[in-house]
Parts: sequence; C-alpha cells; structure tokens
Amino acid sequence: MAREFSTVGVVGLGTMGAGIAEVLARTGVQVVAVEVDGAGVERGRGSVEHSTARAVAKGKLTEEERTALLGRISYSTALGDLVEADLVVEAIPESLELKGRVFAELDGILKPDAVLASNTSSLSITEIGVGTGRPGKVVGLHFFNPAPVLKLVEVVRTVVTEPEVVEDVVEFARKLGKEPVVIGDRAGFIANALLFGYLNHAAEMYESRYATREDLDAAMRYGCGYPMGPLALLDLIGLDTAYEILETMYAQSRNRLHAPAPILKQMITAGLLGRKSGRGFYTYDAPESPTVV
Ligand code: 3HC
Repeated sequence: MAREFSTVGVVGLGTMGAGIAEVLARTGVQVVAVEVDGAGVERGRGSVEHSTARAVAKGKLTEEERTALLGRISYSTALGDLVEADLVVEAIPESLELKGRVFAELDGILKPDAVLASNTSSLSITEIGVGTGRPGKVVGLHFFNPAPVLKLVEVVRTVVTEPEVVEDVVEFARKLGKEPVVIGDRAGFIANALLFGYLNHAAEMYESRYATREDLDAAMRYGCGYPMGPLALLDLIGLDTAYEILETMYAQSRNRLHAPAPILKQMITAGLLGRKSGRGFYTYDAPESPTVV
C-alpha cells in the first residue's frame, strides 16, 4: 500500500511552485505554500488564482471546484508552518547553497518520516540532501512548465534514497495525474539533458544570424510537430533559468553542446528574461501571447 501524502508543503511560489501548488490542491491535497515574504505570497496566490480562473473560463473546472481548490491552499512566510507536512516540495531559485540551507532547516521542523523533495532542474539531489539527517527520504520531484498542463514528473533517486520512498512518490505522482519516470542523480536528469543542447543550439543559430527567430521556431513546429519553437520555449522557461541549467550541465558533462551561447548571458544582463520580464527573443503584450517587435 502506497503511503498517503495528505498534507504537502510547497516552498517557493515562483512559476513552478505556484503551478505545483495548483496541481496538488486540484487532487484534493491540503497544501501549505511558503514564500520568503508577503509580496512573494501575493505573487504566488495571484498566479494560482489567475491560472484557475482561466481553467474555469475554459470549462475545465467549475466555479465551485475552483473555490474548493483555492480553499485547500494556505499561505505562509514561515517554514515552521510545515510541521504537519508529510511531503515538502521545494521550488526555490537554483542555488545549491540556498537549497541546502532550506533542506537543513526543514529537516529540523518536519516529522521524522516526512519526505523532502526538490523540484531542481539540474542541481544534484544528493548534494542538496546531504546536510539533512534523513538523506534516505530525499528525492527529486521535477515538474515541467506549465506544471498544470504537462504530464511528466521526473522522480530522481540518489544512491541512498530508500526504495519505498521512491515507490511512494511515484504512486503519488500518478495520483496527481502525472506520468512519472524514475532516474538517477545526474545533471539534467532525462528531459533537460536531451532538451537543453537543442535549445542552446537554436540560440547559437539565432546569434550567428543563420536564420530568423520566426524561421527557427517555424522549422521545429511545422517540421517536427513540436508545440512551440526553441526560442519561444526559451522565453517560456526564462533565459536566466535556462542559463543556470546549461551552466550546471556544462560543469558536469563538459559537453560543448551545453556551453551556454553568449547571447543568453547578454540578453539576461540587458533584462530580457523572456515572458516573465515582457521581452526575450520575442516581446509579450500579455504573458501568453508572443507578438513580433
Ligand atoms: N497554466 C495552466 N494551463 C495552461 C498554461 C498555464 N501556464 N498554459 C497553457 N495552458 C493550457 C491552456 O489553458 C490550454 O488548455 P485547453 O487545451 O484545455 O484549452 C492548453 O494548455 C493549451 O494552451 P494554449 O491553447 O493556450 O496554447 P498551446 O496549445 O500553444 O499550448 C503550451 C501552450 C501548453 C505551453 C504548449 O505550447 C507546450 O506544451 N509547449 C511546450 C512546453 C515545454 O516544452 N515545456 C517544458 C519546458 S522545460 C521545463 O519545464 C523543465 C524545467 O526544468 C526548465
């Protein structure tokens, strides 16, 4: 019998954390959502409210279901409010130091059998969990953006993760309506290890003026059936996030495919982060609709 995770904490309510909180609450799980400050809480709450309002408008959720879903999420700025959680999913920025600190702090707060999961895209789960007193109960739980839509969840096991913990988390991911895959702890796991060489290559092609952004994106959409082209996808992921993932993968693999294209750094420095900043490879009037500048 798989273990029940009836109360789940989400730490960090950026794009991914807010999406994960929504997925959990949609399945009937009680969610305690934690951000560093009131502004972070309001941003996270706003994302969940916006996304669920859209689901109602599209007829995917009734107004009553939305109200119930929103009622299952409580917000806080204190990790101490996670004391009752059976599982915590951390989705804070991609810093090993920061994540290690949050994990160590959570370790002192949570029940001894609670599971600690990280939504990291490319950092080592082993390193994130090593400072806790429960490395056997530490896993990766990697969702894909947009989390309410995409079905994949990568469950990452380290050499010390207890097999029952992996089984319980896989079962839980299925209960959330996701398709879990299980992998070992290597930078990029499966999907990002395959995806980011391709995205980086597209940025290089754009940088060298090999093709226009529209033609690069059209080639992959209409030639390969991808839902969006690589530059539009980089804008969705966020150029800063993509850069961090590439750097981590390059540091581990030394595969030149993962050496970040210089244009990414230049765009980040200029504040062009993609959809979240209103401009990346494309300019956005609204977060969902790329418009040509
Ligand atoms: N939240 C909730 N629902 C959303 C959403 C969001 N942010 N964005 C889109 N949707 C829903 C829409 O409501 C719509 O639902 P419907 O079909 O029931 O009406 C459905 O998704 C399709 O959306 P749209 O019709 O607006 O537009 P598209 O058909 O172009 O789909 C997309 C948008 C789902 C983003 C699709 O283009 C897609 O899947 N793109 C690829 C995304 C991808 O590859 N993500 C992985 C990135 S890598 C990653 O996340 C790893 C990390 O570590 C970086």
